[in-house]
Amino acid sequence: MGKLVVAGGSPLKGRVRVSGAKNAALAILCASVMAEGEVLLENIPEITDIQVMIDIIRCLGARIRWQENNSLHIQMPGRVEEMPPYEMVKKLRASNLLMGPMLARYGRVELSLPGGCNIGIRPMDLHFKGLAALGAELRLEKGVVKARAERLNGSRIYLDFPSVGATENIMMAACLAKGQTVIENVAKEPEVVDLANFLNCLGARVRGAGTDIIKIEGVDSLRECLRYSVIPDRIEAGTYMVAAAATGGDVRLENVIPLHVEPLSAKLREANVEVFEEGDVLHVRAREPLRPVDIKTMPYPGFPTDLQSQMMALLSTVKGTSMIVENIFENRFRVADELKRMGAKIKVEGRLAVVEGVPRLFGAKVKATDLRAGAALVVAGLMAEGETEISNVYYIDRGYHRLEEKLSSLGARVWRS
Ligand code: UD1
Repeated sequence: MGKLVVAGGSPLKGRVRVSGAKNAALAILCASVMAEGEVLLENIPEITDIQVMIDIIRCLGARIRWQENNSLHIQMPGRVEEMPPYEMVKKLRASNLLMGPMLARYGRVELSLPGGCNIGIRPMDLHFKGLAALGAELRLEKGVVKARAERLNGSRIYLDFPSVGATENIMMAACLAKGQTVIENVAKEPEVVDLANFLNCLGARVRGAGTDIIKIEGVDSLRECLRYSVIPDRIEAGTYMVAAAATGGDVRLENVIPLHVEPLSAKLREANVEVFEEGDVLHVRAREPLRPVDIKTMPYPGFPTDLQSQMMALLSTVKGTSMIVENIFENRFRVADELKRMGAKIKVEGRLAVVEGVPRLFGAKVKATDLRAGAALVVAGLMAEGETEISNVYYIDRGYHRLEEKLSSLGARVWRS
């Protein structure tokens, strides 16, 4: 499986380029299934989640090839015979995002209930509710969701929770439905907006992405898109921002949309970290001493759950008490046990974690329990005295493009063993 070893103690210094957004790229890859023509996507991160999604879409008969500069060329077939096997789908939660596009374009889909990161129950009721409202017939047979529809019909759908995946799945399906669809209480994450922009590039008529209501006028078919560049990854950017702050560093992040990381920038400033923008460059400089802060994860533009674990690592050595409330995924706090192995003092009570800052962390053998927990352990390892050996590195490889290379270029000592 391989381990990642992090030797702590060096402040991160220098500049680093942020890759394309994993979560936007995954959704956009799924949307590409609806294009009747070629699609060329730029700024796609070469990480394992993307590779798995490519393999899954290839099972449907797609021709997909990497081109220079992290670009992907995709061409879907006119008909789909095979459905992706369980072994592939189970590796990636986001494979559920194929449901809407497949139904809309090919009239049927069969997908095993997906797996993915181990961060909570992650039901799909809202996805199903939305697709059923568009007229899909859905049934669950031995863990496989089977859905059919001659032609989807536009509808009015209210989401009980602004789920990112449900918003994306329903929005994609509605693009090829007959008539208008209105989705209320939708997710406003930048990845949803990026997906809507891509869909419009294919000829869809989506309005309102980024607000609480998305309206879609269905069209009969979607066409080619010869160039679409995916937004930068705000969670990767955020992880380097936290790592810079945690190590007393001074880092310039290139290829960032500062607005997308504002929920983190605001928190870091509150913790006495300097964060300032220079166009699409974000400069993060630690100051002494850092101050404790309280965090509540919320749907965008609230504080992202995907950066909560990294902040927990940072706060574990900030003198005073910080409180973290996790409102999105209940299993995110499993990382606390690993941080405690490194000397952190964290008490978890349901959705609340109380972090008492200790003077320092110590290197230890720890394991990543999910992707962002893995990132948090890297941050902790960078801060700690001695070497930290992180197992289950495959979680980290799911979402961080060239992690060791990027960290090494900032002066960190990180290697695989
Ligand atoms: C996406 C992101 C993930 C991020 C999360 C929240 C991708 C590939 N992944 O995941 O990195 O952490 O958004 O920002 O984009 N829920 C339901 N019923 C549903 C769907 C969701 O109750 O049908 C609940 C979930 O259990 C969770 C909350 O809604 O408590 C948010 O989940 P959701 O926004 O759907 O997350 P994902 O799309 O799975």
